[in-house]
Amino acid sequence: MSDKDYTNNEEEEIVEGTVEDTTKEEKKDKDKKDDDEYEKVCTICHRPESTAGKMVDLPNNITVCNDCMQRSFDAMTSGQYDLSQLLNNPNVQIFNMGDMEEQIPKKQKLKKKKEAADVVPLVDINNLPAPHKIKANLDEYIIGQEHAKKAMSVAVYNHYKRVATNTMDDIEIEKSNMLMIGPTGSGKTYLVKTLAKLLDVPLAITDATSLTEAGYIGDDIESVVSKLLAAADNDVEKAEQGIIFIDEIDKIAKKKNSSQRDVSGESVQQGMLKLLEGSDVEVPVGANSKNAMVPLTTINTRNILFICGGAFPDLDGIIQERLMKQSAIGFGADLKDKYKEDPNILDKVTLEDLRNFGMIPEFLGRLPVVVTLQGLGEEMLVSILKEPKNAILKQYQKLLALDEVQLEFNDEALHAIAKRAMKRDTGARALRAIIEEFMLDIMYEIPKDDNIGKVTITKEYIEGTGGPIIKLRTQNVESIATKGKSENE
Ligand SMILES: Nc1ncnc2c1ncn2[C@@H]1O[C@H](COP(=O)(O)OP(=O)(O)OP(=O)(O)O)[C@@H](O)[C@H]1O
Ligand SMILES: [Mg+2]
Repeated sequence: MSDKDYTNNEEEEIVEGTVEDTTKEEKKDKDKKDDDEYEKVCTICHRPESTAGKMVDLPNNITVCNDCMQRSFDAMTSGQYDLSQLLNNPNVQIFNMGDMEEQIPKKQKLKKKKEAADVVPLVDINNLPAPHKIKANLDEYIIGQEHAKKAMSVAVYNHYKRVATNTMDDIEIEKSNMLMIGPTGSGKTYLVKTLAKLLDVPLAITDATSLTEAGYIGDDIESVVSKLLAAADNDVEKAEQGIIFIDEIDKIAKKKNSSQRDVSGESVQQGMLKLLEGSDVEVPVGANSKNAMVPLTTINTRNILFICGGAFPDLDGIIQERLMKQSAIGFGADLKDKYKEDPNILDKVTLEDLRNFGMIPEFLGRLPVVVTLQGLGEEMLVSILKEPKNAILKQYQKLLALDEVQLEFNDEALHAIAKRAMKRDTGARALRAIIEEFMLDIMYEIPKDDNIGKVTITKEYIEGTGGPIIKLRTQNVESIATKGKSENE
């Protein structure tokens, strides 16, 4: 799957669109057809047609379900109120149901379910992007993390295949949810975001920090599925084949030494169990809380791929402790300190370590694929500065190029920046902050002087012992001019 493919498709669509829109009549028809794709929703109780049954159509686009209709009749005929006196009551205003039409925006309407035969898998099995192609695409943006990129590519490829076959026979391909562990700023979120750009299955990226057990302040656990539904244009079938990435999953670890009910930790993990495994969940359409007056729908999560990611701070300490305990017994005793400095210690993670961190076994059991990302070393940070398609350096070069100034960084300067970033311990995130700091003066000074043609950032400038090398536009011209003179003489 290359970028070219995408643009081609887009162009085709645009051409089709202009042909279709030639006459107004046809456009009207199209609008109507668009509306037909959505389910009707009861104006009073906000349930969609699929749950509430056939709707009664009233003028002004009002639709009311049978239950609400019956209830209104009952209220009117029970004789409790003298309806003729109603309008004399100072607190009663005539309320026009026609105004309510606008109350249910399209984003809260559900697409109609298709007949079983009409369900088309989102992807064509013959046109699947192979894992190595997915990875090659990721390579353009993400430096290092080879294992994670490989595992992700395979997981996504298999997900495509499962969706494409969509079989219900004996050999059902089961999904394998993933857990992604890596230090802060090592590219977890970035990896998934980049993947999202390349895919055409719906993908929702959500965050575990705000999740709480149902009924407490915060987002319900089902809200993650609700986001996927939104990403799939409220089309339930599409959403049921999507991918959900839950970031910051370590933030729902069991709280230690807490006597209160752990509504945002252990309970959330428990609440997520049935979701991960595959079950029918009721989700609100177009909102993240069931308490809002919005239609609900049922989504089966059996085919939804879940990827959970988190930094798991202090997990390395837990692994070290375990390894040291093991090596303290018997022959390995002298190797005690060998794990202290191991940069790839996360690779040695076991389920036991994660359990000690505060994840419950049932939760871990539902995430069979565990992928670890490495902390970024100096060389990798230098590569991140200059190599990816939208590398930070390229961004600054482009900014200055608009002023017709050339920007260059010495290799030594790049290493000095990477060294500084390593000290901050925030991974690749530190790079941007550091460069921002140094570039401030340069971005401020350069537009002052029209003569500047090229700026070279040096190691001395980064370390504070010197300045950048600045070349004037005239300097090049001069040197050529003098050269010409000397030749003449
Ligand atoms: N391997 C990498 N290759 C290229 N850029 C990277 C890489 N890792 C990180 N970055 C850059 O660093 C930024 C921060 O990374 P990201 O948001 O993925 O961190 P994270 O692993 O999710 O950390 P946290 O656990 O704190 O959320 C990204 O926006 C990206 O620009
Ligand atoms: Mg992140």
